[in-house]
Amino acid sequence: MESMGALRRTHSCNDLGVSDVNQETTLMGWVLRRRDHGGVIFIDLRDRWGMTQVVFNPEVSEAVHAKAHQLRSEWVIAVRGQVVNRPESMENPKLATGAIEVLVHELRILNASETPPFPLDEEIEVSETLRLQYRYLDLRRPEIARNILLRHQAMQTVRSYLNAHNFLEIETPMLTRSTPEGARDYLVPSRVNAGKFYALPQSPQLFKQLLMVAGMDRYYQIVKCFRDEDLRADRQPEFTQIDMEFSFVTENDIIALVEGMISDLFAAVRSIELRPPFARMTYGEAMRRFGTDRPDARFGLELVDLTGIVRNCGFKVFRTAVEQGGVVKAINVKGCGQFSRKDLDDLTEYAARFGARGMAWIKIKEDEWQSPITKFFNQEEIAAMGKALDAQPGDLILFGADKAKTVNQVLSELRLELARRLELVDDDVFNFLWVTDFPLLEYDEEEKRYTSVHHPFTAPNDDDLSLLTTDPGAVKSRAYDLVLNGNEIGGGSIRMHSPAMQQTVFGALGIGEEEAREKFGFLLRALEYGAPPHGGLAFGVDRLMMLLTGSTSIRDVIAFPKTQKATCPLTDAPSPVSRRQLTDLHLRPDWKEKP
Ligand code: AMO
Ligand code: AMP
Repeated sequence: MESMGALRRTHSCNDLGVSDVNQETTLMGWVLRRRDHGGVIFIDLRDRWGMTQVVFNPEVSEAVHAKAHQLRSEWVIAVRGQVVNRPESMENPKLATGAIEVLVHELRILNASETPPFPLDEEIEVSETLRLQYRYLDLRRPEIARNILLRHQAMQTVRSYLNAHNFLEIETPMLTRSTPEGARDYLVPSRVNAGKFYALPQSPQLFKQLLMVAGMDRYYQIVKCFRDEDLRADRQPEFTQIDMEFSFVTENDIIALVEGMISDLFAAVRSIELRPPFARMTYGEAMRRFGTDRPDARFGLELVDLTGIVRNCGFKVFRTAVEQGGVVKAINVKGCGQFSRKDLDDLTEYAARFGARGMAWIKIKEDEWQSPITKFFNQEEIAAMGKALDAQPGDLILFGADKAKTVNQVLSELRLELARRLELVDDDVFNFLWVTDFPLLEYDEEEKRYTSVHHPFTAPNDDDLSLLTTDPGAVKSRAYDLVLNGNEIGGGSIRMHSPAMQQTVFGALGIGEEEAREKFGFLLRALEYGAPPHGGLAFGVDRLMMLLTGSTSIRDVIAFPKTQKATCPLTDAPSPVSRRQLTDLHLRPDWKEKP
């Protein structure tokens, strides 16, 4: 290995062009590829910014050329040489530096590299575990490196926007008490306080509210949050939020400011011009038309409620569903009446994954409704269904009949799957939608009590206050979620700033006064000292970046993500610890220690 010596980098591997021809340059970077052509060696030299072709010609220097023979993939080198035009036939218009190459006079080998476990210059399928195990190599690949760069740009844009709007960036503790956001906590045992635990924050929710009580007025933080929940493609156990809170505002103030921020971000990172205000839809309408509170409104295939029409029909499956308090809904898959038996079987199987007990269908033909179930309906029912569904010859109708929750889940997933199969989605469209008027509470059948749809600090709608004690499930909240192409990218609410109201909501949640004092006493006390009206929201940075970069997994926009099993193949976390560490923390393990 050699040192850089007196050599200093003069350009990045993306800098040089025809205007630099004849200049001397010094480049440093990694060997992406080496090609030997008739005694001349070509190296594609790569760094974070790009790639430059460097040439070792024995006519320039036999010694340097001989040395270049040793070079292998991912070796780290410094080269000094002269910028020259490439022969016309060798130009590469796809590369920023594609018109030139560097004729090398001096080569220093700064470091060697083992052969990488996967090639970095080809788009080949590499197992994700291997990529994560060697993440520092994976990050050298331009696709992933680009995501990291865009994420940086996005966060800079967010910071300057919020700074310009009078927000203060304030850090909140990581070792804290549990904040209920609906997931399990990651706990940290305290060594100096035997038997006591910190919780890693599921969000800075309570601290940001305390900052409003403290008069900070506008707060933000780009912050890690920790949730021990079942992982999916768009979930990580630790993820990042752009977290914000405002004083003396209403929903519309928050929404308008955030729309400006998102617009700046899309303009800066992708040169995409968004046109706020974004569309809004109530939770009720979203559930009715799309069966989900995060509709992808880029395409049709909306759900149509047929419950009223089929209430007394001859088809037992539908009638029973309605009798048992359920619903019957359907999707008109326009022009897909030619779907084969196998297509329908596949879709039925897909629907079953989300709890469907079947998937009745009808093909609309010129002169009949073709289906094993047509015979169960009278003329009136057929006419009414046809009208509700706008059924035309050539259409295919798919049905769901069950509890509303099941039908909505099944048909909303079926809708997405159909859109994928029929290629109805334009990936270049960014469809933003605010979902508003959520219920404040939902009944948890297992726990036999109400739980918060968002979190217990969300304010109920002023008009619904009297319902809190009489019909808690009917109370609407002042929460809002921002949905992008069917993904929930952010959510927030106006909070309660009166301690009495907060107590009432705790009561509706079955949290008694004592439990409230024990868990949230510090918040209730703070609310008693002049809390301003306040509200805020938080964005999921990883999800937002996933969509902004067109990635399919949030792991592709995180430098060091965790696997679906919450492990890190690079560091091997989580890992066993010694018995001594555990006893120091006053923990008594009853599992066997590995030798
Ligand atoms: P919420 O729980 O909705 O709200 O979280 C805000 C946003 O964070 C993202 N998100 C996640 N991203 C990746 N992995 C996860 N496990 C994960 N969980 C959530 C989502 C979500 O919209 N304190 C409130 C905000 C507020 O009321 O101000 C909160 O945390 O994109
Ligand atoms: P069966 O009477 O069980 O043979 O069902 C007749 C048709 O209704 C089949 O196409 C089933 O897939 C469908 N079906 C059964 N249960 C449901 C349900 N809960 N929702 C929608 N379709 C159903």
